[in-house]
Amino acid sequence: MKPVSFGVIGSGVGATFAIRALKELEKEGIVKVIAVVSRREERAKDFASKWGVERWYTDYVKMYKDAKPDAVAICTPHYLHFSMTIDAIDEGINVLVDKPMAINLHQTDAMIKAAEKAGVKLGVIFQSRFDPKVRKIKEAVDTGRMGKLILGEAIVEWFRTEEYYSKSPWRGRWSTEGGGALINQAIHTIDLLLWIMGDPEYLWSQIDTVAHDIEVEDLAVALIRFKNGAFGVIQGSTAIYPGLPTRLEIHGVNGTAIIEGEKLKLLAIKGEETYSEIEERGELAAWARPEAVPPYNHIALIRDFAQAILEDRKPLVDGYEGRRSIELIRAIYVSGTTKEVVRFPLTEI
Ligand SMILES: NC(=O)c1ccc[n+]([C@@H]2O[C@H](COP(=O)([O-])OP(=O)(O)OC[C@H]3O[C@@H](n4cnc5c(N)ncnc54)[C@H](OP(=O)(O)O)[C@@H]3O)[C@@H](O)[C@H]2O)c1
Repeated sequence: MKPVSFGVIGSGVGATFAIRALKELEKEGIVKVIAVVSRREERAKDFASKWGVERWYTDYVKMYKDAKPDAVAICTPHYLHFSMTIDAIDEGINVLVDKPMAINLHQTDAMIKAAEKAGVKLGVIFQSRFDPKVRKIKEAVDTGRMGKLILGEAIVEWFRTEEYYSKSPWRGRWSTEGGGALINQAIHTIDLLLWIMGDPEYLWSQIDTVAHDIEVEDLAVALIRFKNGAFGVIQGSTAIYPGLPTRLEIHGVNGTAIIEGEKLKLLAIKGEETYSEIEERGELAAWARPEAVPPYNHIALIRDFAQAILEDRKPLVDGYEGRRSIELIRAIYVSGTTKEVVRFPLTEI
């Protein structure tokens, strides 16, 4: 089997997660990183040499045409995801794009359509869907063990300094980040909420900018009614000092599941043994020294994407799955601005 050749665009935090996972997968012979791209020459060169990649570029289109990878991992600021994806698809390259897949539904829909027309795979980096704790909860819900779902909560109360925004000019702006705490920080937990609870019917929200000199929200609260009748609550922020562990709570009539930070805090189902405080794979160590631990969830997601190419099937997190959190977050922005209830499906203006 010939490995799937990859180009990686970006050399920041997102790209580092992706390339670490790709390098682990190279050991399985399933992928091979053949090129990296960063905007600045020094960064591109350093990134290539650090990860032992032969070719580096500062122009991603040149990389597409010159290195001709089978697939590209796009790990750049949000507003670039759309154009970099469309240009890759035009070259017949499969695309794995980091979250959020784009900054509005016009873009997500054009990306999905273009990939389908060209017959290439489009995947989105929502690695938490491969987290064994999350899988355990998803399975308990899907097999009916939790009973009818009644409430799902995604609580992402983080803290980011003023400098975090001021030193990266693409952050904090509608045109380049596409939003704030929700589309950047809370999106993984929102994606899991939707994956486990199902599609929303309507929502009402409040958004504000309370603690940073930025255009976008650093505080948001949304109340959701899901199609299955369950309630949902989302709280997303980068203004909660000192920053609290992320919480995902799923409640059914027969049980509760809570993830807090890196732990499965509680999985209590009527008639079953209760799990509490389970840490998977020594993840506290991962928290303390992230560079020492392989990025397991990224590895599992990219393995699935590479296998999807090799087996000519859909990746588990495809464009349609990546679109779901964008639709929900865009609806929160609309409701937070108009102060009105927003119903699904959302029509972008
Ligand atoms: N899945 C996850 O858990 C996860 C975690 C973190 C971030 N992310 C995602 O990763 C993406 C990037 O975020 P980040 O935190 O890594 O941002 P960042 O640290 O600001 O890095 C952005 C990177 O994009 C490069 N870049 C900017 N414009 C470019 C262009 N025109 N052509 C080529 N490269 C360009 C920059 O290159 P230079 O440095 O050379 O200027 C930089 O390496 C975002 O979508 C973010 O949401 C995902």
